[in-house]
Amino acid sequence: MYTRENADKFIADRKYLLNEEYRLTFHLMSEFGWMNDPNGFIYYNGEYHMFYQYYPYQPVWGPMHWGHAVSHDLMKWKQLPVALAPDQAYDRDGCFSGSAFERDGKLYLMYTGHLVTGPDKDNDYRQNQNIAVSEDGIRFEKLTSNPVIGPEQIPAGLSRKDFRDPKVFERDGVYYVVLGSNDGQGHGLILLYRSHDLANWSLVGEIARSDGKLGDNWECPDLFELGGRDVLMMSPQRMPAQGDDYQNLHSTTYMIGRLDIEGGSFRYDRYEPIDCGFDFYAPQTTIDDKGRRIVMAWMETWETEIPTQLGHYWAGAMTMPREVVLDGESLLFKPLEETSAYRHNAFEAGNLSLSGVKDMEVSGDCYELEVVFQAEQAEEFGLKLRVGGEEETVLSYRQAEGRFRFNRDRSGIGLGGERRTKVALKDGLLTLRVFVDKSSVEVFIQGGEKVMTGRIYPGAGSLGIQAYAEGSCSMVSFKKWDIK
Ligand code: FRU
Repeated sequence: MYTRENADKFIADRKYLLNEEYRLTFHLMSEFGWMNDPNGFIYYNGEYHMFYQYYPYQPVWGPMHWGHAVSHDLMKWKQLPVALAPDQAYDRDGCFSGSAFERDGKLYLMYTGHLVTGPDKDNDYRQNQNIAVSEDGIRFEKLTSNPVIGPEQIPAGLSRKDFRDPKVFERDGVYYVVLGSNDGQGHGLILLYRSHDLANWSLVGEIARSDGKLGDNWECPDLFELGGRDVLMMSPQRMPAQGDDYQNLHSTTYMIGRLDIEGGSFRYDRYEPIDCGFDFYAPQTTIDDKGRRIVMAWMETWETEIPTQLGHYWAGAMTMPREVVLDGESLLFKPLEETSAYRHNAFEAGNLSLSGVKDMEVSGDCYELEVVFQAEQAEEFGLKLRVGGEEETVLSYRQAEGRFRFNRDRSGIGLGGERRTKVALKDGLLTLRVFVDKSSVEVFIQGGEKVMTGRIYPGAGSLGIQAYAEGSCSMVSFKKWDIK
């Protein structure tokens, strides 16, 4: 029997087994077992709350619970008791993804109940939407009126089973929720429902559907206002690659457009990836007390083997939080200023001319770099991180192609591969902010125009940092801080 109490006891009894080798220091992870999507991200009563898809019993996906952690700065997290367990008839096979909102000082969660309805659990299932509420932000009670939206409220002609990941928002005292689904014919889509009282929900409409290139099912939609525009984010499944973009099996994308909340439509012209690396899925945003729109995602991807699943007793982490900034017709994703408070041991070098490989004479496995290159005549230039023996993780720029690359073919155990993305130099300059945390690399390129995220699993001794150029370029500045 899955209960919150059983989960908490299991975690407390087993925590000593954890292998710390690849555990991160300024990223959110579960205490034990498996984690996937961020859920219920909210700034509530002076703290950031993050919930997450959680199976505490093994480092593999299983009947989903909601883990729960809080933070003052989104850098250091404190774990709280498990918030939801699949303990009701309507959610017995999993409390799937969802979101949080505050009403009259109480913290509400809306989530998907998952029900397996036949022998083939990958195909025979139904999904419904439920609400849980808490007075103290820790202990949640599921409403007796659950489910509040059932599969009978899915419009005709759409999938009867994929109907999940409610993201709630409020406008003018009315609650709205977006849900991911598909038409059963290979097109992901998003449904919008509305409620005045949280108990009764009615369909507003299907607000967006894949044009045929955007995957066969849409998960984890998120719809919010930013700078007078409406932004839709989601995670399309099995989206085919488009050039350098959408190279992962499942992707994430955003559209800036216009929501017609009465008519039930979202119009957009373009869509763009949210992150161009390897490991970034199911992003969710919130707005905080400073008015910042912040996004975090699961720093993994489905259907791969995660090295810590074997013998480490944990799997899965969240990305760093990123501030979402509207810049004309695009979004920028920037590290939060809170990161600077953890900078230690500053190291600075400037005006170096680079030709060949240069050891930067600093090292580490948990640090931030801020580097500005002047491309000059170099065909290719960049950084090599976590260097040791045969190992290295390479971040590089090729001028003729105007492309940045993240290569992890020699990053240690785990998956290799390369991701690429087009980025223009600015007055010949390339500016990078790189965050390395034990088993992760996140690189913010040209002030957050592009971000690339990847997990790496190098040996503990692979700590070197090098810069290199084929041809010659200069490093206008190189700054490093350890993060503690
Ligand atoms: C996305 C997702 C969601 C679902 C959850 C289940 O990663 O597939 O659509 O609610 O994970 O754990």
